[in-house]
Amino acid sequence: MTRLPIIIDTDPGIDDAVAILLVLASPEFDLLGLTVVSGNVPLEDTLRNTLQVCELAGRTDVPVFAGCDRPLLRQPVRGLFSGREGLGGVVLPPPRLAPQPVHAVDFLVKSLLEAGRTGEKITLCALGPLTNVAVALAHSPGIAAGIERIVLMGGGFRELGNRSIAAEFNILVDPHAASIVYEAGIPITMLPLDLTHQALATPKRVERLRAIDNPVAQVVADILTIWDRKDIDRFGELGGPLHDPLVFDYLLAPDRYSGRAARVWIEHTSELTMGQTVADWWGKTGEKPNAEVLTKVDAQGFFDLLGERLARYPLPA
Ligand code: RIB
Ligand code: CA
Repeated sequence: MTRLPIIIDTDPGIDDAVAILLVLASPEFDLLGLTVVSGNVPLEDTLRNTLQVCELAGRTDVPVFAGCDRPLLRQPVRGLFSGREGLGGVVLPPPRLAPQPVHAVDFLVKSLLEAGRTGEKITLCALGPLTNVAVALAHSPGIAAGIERIVLMGGGFRELGNRSIAAEFNILVDPHAASIVYEAGIPITMLPLDLTHQALATPKRVERLRAIDNPVAQVVADILTIWDRKDIDRFGELGGPLHDPLVFDYLLAPDRYSGRAARVWIEHTSELTMGQTVADWWGKTGEKPNAEVLTKVDAQGFFDLLGERLARYPLPA
């Protein structure tokens, strides 16, 4: 099996944590590193959470890199649903693992320039605000040659916004960074709220995960219980939308997904619509598409795969 070389840029964050645990139990991925960014919670918390999740998974082999601790220009905005520490109040042991002594941007630049030289391109999976990725692009635009594509959770169209009336959180936090990424000419596969709101971690689904008899599945069931929005008006039933893990379910099972190509811009001047993702769906502007926008998923298929992968813990030594 050829393993897919990936780098994950992340801001754990409850759904980031579940995504990382899914990846660490999936041998189809060759996870080259986790680059951490300020987002749901401040960088010191997203970094600690990332280290703790790797230790929970028994995967202390994965290098973790601390990245940017603030957006390029705007004041940080925090997530509302991951709790003050970022894992919904679930307390994991203080990490023994330390981050690498290299900044995340330097790791991204070095790895992606090397990938461009060898031709072994890397799939960059972005689960948080795009500050690290944008700074790496500004530092060395040539990294684009080492990126197979960027698969990111972010944006919204019919499901316009979650953290503001017009914008999804990852894009809202750093719209300038997002605009740099969307204008870089790198193939993007985008998983917006329109898609991720279809993947609700309902009480029934969470209980199926809780029935998996290992400590990792129990932690996931606990944090997903906290993640429940209890907003039947908005989501049609109980549960919380499991955004970030869908990036990896898509990479593992693309046939579960459908969408369409579009030219997407990021609003970064109007305060009213700051961070909005604006798509030309019908080629009105004559501009070439810059993103494959995924809009449909077989959510049950995703949760079945998530359960199957969590059941693999504890991983063989
Ligand atoms: O809007 C949802 C996204 O914002 C997810 O990635 C969540 O973790 C937060 O980063
Ligand atoms: Ca995230």
